Amino acid sequence: MKAAVLYAAGQPLQVEDVAVEDPHRGEVMVRVAAGGVCHSDLHVINGDLTAPLPVVLGHEGAGVVEKVGEGVDEFRPGDHVVLLWRASCGNCLYCLSGRPALCELGAGIRWSGRLADGTSRFRRGDQEIRHHAGVSSFSELTVLPREGLVKIDPSVPLEKAAIVGCAVMTGVGAVINTARVEPGASMVVVGCGGVGLNAIQGGALAGAEKIIAVDVLDNKLEYARQFGATHLINASRVDPIEAVKEATGGRGADYAFEVIGNVKTIAQAYQMIRRGGTLVVVGVAPMGAEVAINASSIMLDEKTIRGSLYGSCQPKLDAPRMLNLYKAGKLKLDELISREYPLEQINDAFDALRRGDVARSIIRFM
Ligand code: APR
Ligand code: ZN
Ligand code: ZN
Repeated sequence: MKAAVLYAAGQPLQVEDVAVEDPHRGEVMVRVAAGGVCHSDLHVINGDLTAPLPVVLGHEGAGVVEKVGEGVDEFRPGDHVVLLWRASCGNCLYCLSGRPALCELGAGIRWSGRLADGTSRFRRGDQEIRHHAGVSSFSELTVLPREGLVKIDPSVPLEKAAIVGCAVMTGVGAVINTARVEPGASMVVVGCGGVGLNAIQGGALAGAEKIIAVDVLDNKLEYARQFGATHLINASRVDPIEAVKEATGGRGADYAFEVIGNVKTIAQAYQMIRRGGTLVVVGVAPMGAEVAINASSIMLDEKTIRGSLYGSCQPKLDAPRMLNLYKAGKLKLDELISREYPLEQINDAFDALRRGDVARSIIRFM
């Protein structure tokens, strides 16, 4: 079967034949319908974010269960599923305290690139190829831990469900779960790509009064308006901190969401919030990078800085919840998917993401 493999940072992906082994005990094989093209994969391609290599990339997707391993009775062949990039075991300290995005099982799979029994299901000749975040959606077939899937309503098109697996849960979740933005609040979203647009629509769902979108590209700001932004700021033309203050009575916003992963924009976003405000960091900064924030202001201004991993979601509850909101016409998914590519053109899809041409694109298998 065909899959897109990254052998080294800085190189294009290789679309090639990869052997996939049947699911082991507690695992599920999925025929992928669509995989989303997210900047977190681009961070890995660029080398800003590490992953064990070589790897079948892709951490956002949906598909149909093909086979189940021994002991798996909650899924059957034919079930429609969203793939979750952080499996949650339900038993570790983090799962038990309601924070499954921090699950020890899921984190172990992410950083080892191997499934729970310490081995990979992907191989090319004698070479082991790793899993990416336990998902590897840029592959016709993939194998996941049973803890990394959620069954969904088969009436929802799988290519729409795919983007719920990362962009939607990460962006909407940052607003409604991590920050718990309240009706009437003011918020800024810095970076209006696939994830940032979902933070914007999360703000609209939460009833925020002001949703200020900041980007350097006018096409992204136009998407932001469609997703519910009330103010648009092009940071390549004006000072975005001043512009946010101007839009918020000189004080700054109640909340800011940094959805790029850039130390400069994280520091800017901190300055965009008012005294007592909250900065939520969603973007993945280059590993080892440090951010410059005025130390006394943390105390004097009583500001809060929070990280948001996977939108602080309960993925198995939140993925179906997002799809229900989509079916009810309250969450935009159709408008998010700007382009579809076949697997063979995956490097073109990443080039388009680099240039900022798209809101979100997907790799379509079926
Ligand atoms: N100021 C404002 N906007 C910027 C700047 C800047 N200095 N630099 C880049 N941007 C904008 C881009 O124009 C783009 O619209 O940030 C947006 C990033 O969006 P995408 O490339 O589509 O990335 P996305 O997939 O949304 O991921 C964003 O969230 O989950 C993390 O790893 C992911 O760090 C990444 C971030
Ligand atoms: Zn992602
Ligand atoms: Zn756990």
